[in-house]
Amino acid sequence: MEPENPFRYGAPVEAASFCDRSEELAALTARMRNGIHAFVLSPRRYGKTSLLLEALRRFRKEGGRGGYANLLLCTTEAEAAGVVLTAVAREVLRPIGRTKRSIEEVLEHLRVAPQVELSPDGKVTFSLQPAVGADRWYDMLEDAVGLLERAGERRPAALVLDEFQQVAEIGPKGLGGAFKALADQARGTSLVFSGSRLSVMERLTRGRGAPLLGMGETFNLEVVPEDEMSAHLVGRAKRGGKRLTRADARTLYRRADRIPNDVQWLAHAAFEAADEVIDAEAIEAGLAAIVRRQAGFFAERFESLAPSQQRIVRELARSPREKVYAKAFLDTVMVANANAVTTALRTLAEQEIVRREGRQWRLASPFFRAWLLGQLEA
Ligand SMILES: Nc1ncnc2c1ncn2[C@@H]1O[C@H](COP(=O)(O)OP(=O)(O)O)[C@@H](O)[C@H]1O
Ligand SMILES: [Mg+2]
Repeated sequence: MEPENPFRYGAPVEAASFCDRSEELAALTARMRNGIHAFVLSPRRYGKTSLLLEALRRFRKEGGRGGYANLLLCTTEAEAAGVVLTAVAREVLRPIGRTKRSIEEVLEHLRVAPQVELSPDGKVTFSLQPAVGADRWYDMLEDAVGLLERAGERRPAALVLDEFQQVAEIGPKGLGGAFKALADQARGTSLVFSGSRLSVMERLTRGRGAPLLGMGETFNLEVVPEDEMSAHLVGRAKRGGKRLTRADARTLYRRADRIPNDVQWLAHAAFEAADEVIDAEAIEAGLAAIVRRQAGFFAERFESLAPSQQRIVRELARSPREKVYAKAFLDTVMVANANAVTTALRTLAEQEIVRREGRQWRLASPFFRAWLLGQLEA
């Protein structure tokens, strides 16, 4: 029988699949414990959610009350308020259990009556009817934080707001300002904002007039360092019954541009392609398999771009570039001037197709890059 593949990607990881991050974990749980607000920022797929969930597990273990709200699918203020209230209520009810009585106790403290849904597995969900939500969503947010603080009496309380970039610009004024007011009020609760789409998060937290400026400490989550990740890969491969040398683990790490999710994805594919040894050949075979499976998606992505954007993407696939405003680059991508390049790069970055790393612009996905290179050579 083929052994179970020990590598995980595409969803938050925990326990044996979670590697390193000890400093970040210690720092984050300390902020939660001390009621300090924080921002956790990184591009998508770097491991924010994994880190936040692990920090919450530790925080709860030491007695803290911690809610987790994922705002990814929210499109209105009312929906965001419902998701936040649900997160708080689930956390508050966790130690008590979810009897009808305890849910009523939660409702008692709310100024706006939400709709309550109880799923067969006992999960409670609160939502605001759109008609009500249109003007009472802020009360609901306030009550949610109040609820957490009351439940946390003499215990530290924290509320994680994951995928915050999604709601930052919702509504006529953007939700950023509302959360600023909330954060000022939530004296005993640490609000932890987490987001990708760095340009959006930067508009919130940096520069004059940024609604969340100076409100908390910012953690820019980097990739997991090469030493830690390659040691982790070697250990996981062994767990799955296949051999991977430290040197090949490093090759794999670099081949996937060091991005945690993509490193694990490539490791998964290489494991699948290998017999007993995950060697350089298996890594290339794994990469080819990923690119083949993603080809349709990559083609659609490429086709959806404007011609000038396509030319920029094609050039960046060949190699990362620093001098994107130099005449040579403008000529190659046939763009009239530096402004046009700026606009195109900004659009591409918002879609997380390109990314700026240090002074260099590069494609955000090593697999998209490999696909493009394959097309260019064909
Ligand atoms: N600490 C970690 N150790 C090992 N792999 C990780 C770690 N953090 C993230 N990953 C990899 O990245 C993937 C995405 O992680 P996730 O937490 O969902 O990222 P994000 O929330 O930033 O998009 C995981 O499935 C896993 O493959
Ligand atoms: Mg996430």
